[in-house]
Amino acid sequence: MNVGVLASGSGSNLQALVDACVGDAPARVALVVSNREDAGALDRARAAEIPIYHLSDPEDGDALLGAFRNAGVQFVVLAGYLQLVPESVVRAFEGRIINIHPALLPGFGGKGMYGINVHRAVLASGSTISGATVHLVTAEYDRGPILAQWPVPVLPGDTAESLRDRVLAIEHELLPAVVLASAAANRAARLPVKGPGFGAGPVGTVDLSDERS
Ligand code: GRF
Repeated sequence: MNVGVLASGSGSNLQALVDACVGDAPARVALVVSNREDAGALDRARAAEIPIYHLSDPEDGDALLGAFRNAGVQFVVLAGYLQLVPESVVRAFEGRIINIHPALLPGFGGKGMYGINVHRAVLASGSTISGATVHLVTAEYDRGPILAQWPVPVLPGDTAESLRDRVLAIEHELLPAVVLASAAANRAARLPVKGPGFGAGPVGTVDLSDERS
C-alpha cells in the first residue's frame, strides 16, 4: 500500500512510519507533502529518498490530488499537519485518510487543540490520563471514527512538555501499527486499546461503503 503523508512539523511520526515500512512490510511511504518548505518532515523525507511535494496553497485540492495521483498514493496519513485538508481530498480518500492526535479524543480535540496546547489543556483539566488517538478524517475535524487509542498516564509533576514527550513516544508506536494493520487488511483497521489497566477494545476493520482495492 502506497502511503502519502501530510506533515507541517518536525516529522517524528513520519520517521516512525518510514522506519516501520521496511522489508516485507505491506506499506511504503510514497510521498511526503508539506505546506511548509522548511518543515523538518521534508528533510526526513529527503534523507530517506522519499519524493516530496510542497503544497504552497493548502486549499488547492486539485494540486494535492494530482500529487497523490502521480505518486500512486492509496492511503493518506496526517502526521502533524496543521492545515485543513480540502474537502475534495477527504472525499476522494474517504475511509483511507487518517490523522493522529496527541490526546484521547473526543476530549481535547477541535479548534485550537494542536501541539502543546493539547497537553496544557489536559494538565489544566486535572485528568490523570492522556494518550494518543488515530481516527479517520472526515469533513468534521477531530470527529471521524476512532481507529485506535492508546492511553498514557499523566504523572504528578508533569509539565506540558514532559507529557507531550510521553504521548509522542506512544504515537510513534501507534501510528505505524494502524498503518501496517490497515495495509494488511486493505482497509482502515481498528486496533485494540493497549496499556496498563485497560482491557482489549474492539478489534477489526471499519465498514466502508466506498471500498477501493
Ligand atoms: C504530534 O503530536 C501529532 O499527534 C500532532 O502533531 C504532532 C506532530 O509531531 N498531530 P511530529 O511532527 O510528528 O514530530
